[in-house]
Amino acid sequence: MDRRNLLKLLPLSGVTSMLNFSNLFAAGDCLTSSDILGPYYKPNAPYINDLSGQDTGSKLYISGTVFASDCISPLPNVTLEVWQADGQAQYHDNGFRAKIMTDKDGQYAFKTVLPGKYLNGSYYRPRHVHYKVSVEGIEYLTTQIYFQGDPSITQDPWASDPGAQQRIISLHVDQQGSYHGLADITIQKEGPLGLDLESANQTQFQVYPNPVVGDELNITFGQGGQGKLVLTDINAKVIFNKEVSFNAKQNQTINLADSNGIRYAKGLYILYFISSNEKNPCVKRFTIA
Ligand SMILES: [Fe+2]
Repeated sequence: MDRRNLLKLLPLSGVTSMLNFSNLFAAGDCLTSSDILGPYYKPNAPYINDLSGQDTGSKLYISGTVFASDCISPLPNVTLEVWQADGQAQYHDNGFRAKIMTDKDGQYAFKTVLPGKYLNGSYYRPRHVHYKVSVEGIEYLTTQIYFQGDPSITQDPWASDPGAQQRIISLHVDQQGSYHGLADITIQKEGPLGLDLESANQTQFQVYPNPVVGDELNITFGQGGQGKLVLTDINAKVIFNKEVSFNAKQNQTINLADSNGIRYAKGLYILYFISSNEKNPCVKRFTIA
């Protein structure tokens, strides 16, 4: 397929899609879904960031961040094994497969070519890249990513599964004709706060206004109780951590400024309430505008 047809195949959104952040405001649903291993996995791939070798196909650059199960904490030192068919839809024992470690910010990136489509029975599998995700030798996820606009997705039982929707990423093309995609991944591993938003209770308190345009955030708890209130930024950096007690339906006001009175920076924040007698935290996200 020539480049012009490829361009027709892959809509140019110009906006990168994010596996994780598409669900950012629906906590409890941020884990990246799994997919089949497929027959072409081989262990012991080399630690490299360029899978493309001598392949002259369309260059593809994939990057992303691996997040913990709290949906927001980047995880460093995660091993991603990625493998795919080459541009002519061939798998290789010693090519188009790599191990990549996430950096201190949980980020990873690799260069490859747009994978070709291979026949699976009577239909072609959509273009895809396989992932196996592990930390210190413990496997957390086996999955695949697909690309928006690929007409083979609807024929493929795995790519067309509703659970795969979050893994169909958009690509955009730069001026050199290279493709770029963003594939964030969230795995069922605790982050530094030891919280698990997948099982968090989302309903026990309300915050408003959201977004915050002033410097005060109001919190109303549905039931009385006591525990810890923890505020973090989007990188899971703790802004404050304090003991609180409250009555049902009582409004509390938090001043969104540091001890010098300087308002917290604009951005997305996460407020946790960790009750003294419950394992799972309550979580709310809000934006300081
Ligand atoms: Fe495959």
